[in-house]
Amino acid sequence: MDDSRAGRLLAAFIVTGLFFLALPGTFIGVGNLLLIAASRAPTAPAPAWIQAHGQAQVFGWVGSFMFGISLFILPRFRGIALASLAWGWTMWALWTAGVALHWLGGVGDMPAHPWLVVSAVLELAAFIISQYLLVVAPARAARAGSGTLRVRPAGAARDLGTRLGMAGFCGLGLTLVVNLVAAIQVAPESAAYPPVLDHILLELSLWTFLLPIALGYSSRFVSMFLGLRPLHGTQVWQRGLRGFDLNRLLMLMVAALAIAILLQAWPAAAALALVFAATTVWALRIFEPPARPALLGGVYGGYAWFVRIAFVWLLIGAVIGLMASADPARSGLAGAGRHALTVGYIATLIFTMAPRLLPEFLHRRLASRALMAGSLWLITLGCTLRVLSEAAAYGTRLSWAWNLLPISGFVELTAVLIFVLNIGLTVARRRAVQMPASAPHHRPISA
Ligand code: HEM
Repeated sequence: MDDSRAGRLLAAFIVTGLFFLALPGTFIGVGNLLLIAASRAPTAPAPAWIQAHGQAQVFGWVGSFMFGISLFILPRFRGIALASLAWGWTMWALWTAGVALHWLGGVGDMPAHPWLVVSAVLELAAFIISQYLLVVAPARAARAGSGTLRVRPAGAARDLGTRLGMAGFCGLGLTLVVNLVAAIQVAPESAAYPPVLDHILLELSLWTFLLPIALGYSSRFVSMFLGLRPLHGTQVWQRGLRGFDLNRLLMLMVAALAIAILLQAWPAAAALALVFAATTVWALRIFEPPARPALLGGVYGGYAWFVRIAFVWLLIGAVIGLMASADPARSGLAGAGRHALTVGYIATLIFTMAPRLLPEFLHRRLASRALMAGSLWLITLGCTLRVLSEAAAYGTRLSWAWNLLPISGFVELTAVLIFVLNIGLTVARRRAVQMPASAPHHRPISA
């Protein structure tokens, strides 16, 4: 397949993601935060607006980035091209329409219920097409004995990235089914999902979709870029402990998390989430001395430290989540823990990895290292202020915390806008170098 045509599909997903990150995602998030700070009441914004913000960030931004990168890179990992660009574009159109409809249904004046259902159906349809392109078509190619296809040797264990990727896509499928059920349950006069279903949806989307996929990609790209030592599980396997497959164990933990969340066993789910996060960080060897210096490849030199900071946020988010489940009356803890995971971990990881990966995938140079540095420092500052002030403010009268909340929102907003500008300018640049079509991206990473 022509590399530039696959690149255009990737660019479409990236631009879509940037749009949802900036406008429906962060502007509405900051608007909600200002309302909460002004009235000193976490319940001040309409639930539909809070949910519209969450959906725009989780599905509109991270989901679009994740689909675009997966459709671009996963077939190449196996040495084949994407089975059908036409289906890829169909999937992009359905996904974008679905996410946009939820947002319009949530914050617009039109009757929300039918649009929320249509939105959920479109998102599910897009997901099914993605699985055809990423799972069914490559399996057919393997059965047909495609010459270039890389097939896993019989008996060899699947690696951590594959296991977590499988878990994450199953988690996304389950999340989208619950999303449809929640949309059907919306009362005719309301635009918000019922609170219990919304809570289940939130936790599923975090722990069974976003985090497994982000950790799966980290096991490939973060390990390679930061020059980390071989993953822990791999070494245990090589030493001959054949009964112990850490990668399978982590996948089973995601399945157990899904069950605990569906049963609303919140303390059990939070404890399992912490064990899952800590075990994955240990397996990735993020905090161990690396085997070689990080690969810079034209990006901000300090990015490797921000990757490590992202993983600190992952652990902090999981610990705060456990504290929140033990003390549900402290309402700030749940929101603070959620944003330690979404802004601290997911956003920081994407702010480090997207400028490192996308220019290479799209054959362009990164627009600005200074903008990359600015977005990383500010998102770290904003997230620190946010987690501290939200945990302290909600449910209390602590003035310093309430006064800090809006400042944290503006700092996060600035970081997001800088990131959007940098990646937007990068995508808008002309293609620079020509690389061989379907080049496997295990290899061509420049120092
Ligand atoms: C960058 C600036 C951001 C701001 C100012 C912001 C603000 C908010 C606010 C005020 C809430 C209401 C609940 C609470 O007070 O905690 C909220 C909820 C939420 N946010 Fe954010 N947020 C931001 C970024 C993100 C990101 C990057 C993600 C995901 C990748 C995200 C996902 C969510 C989710 C899932 C909810 C819960 C929605 C629900 O209850 O259905 N947020 N956010």
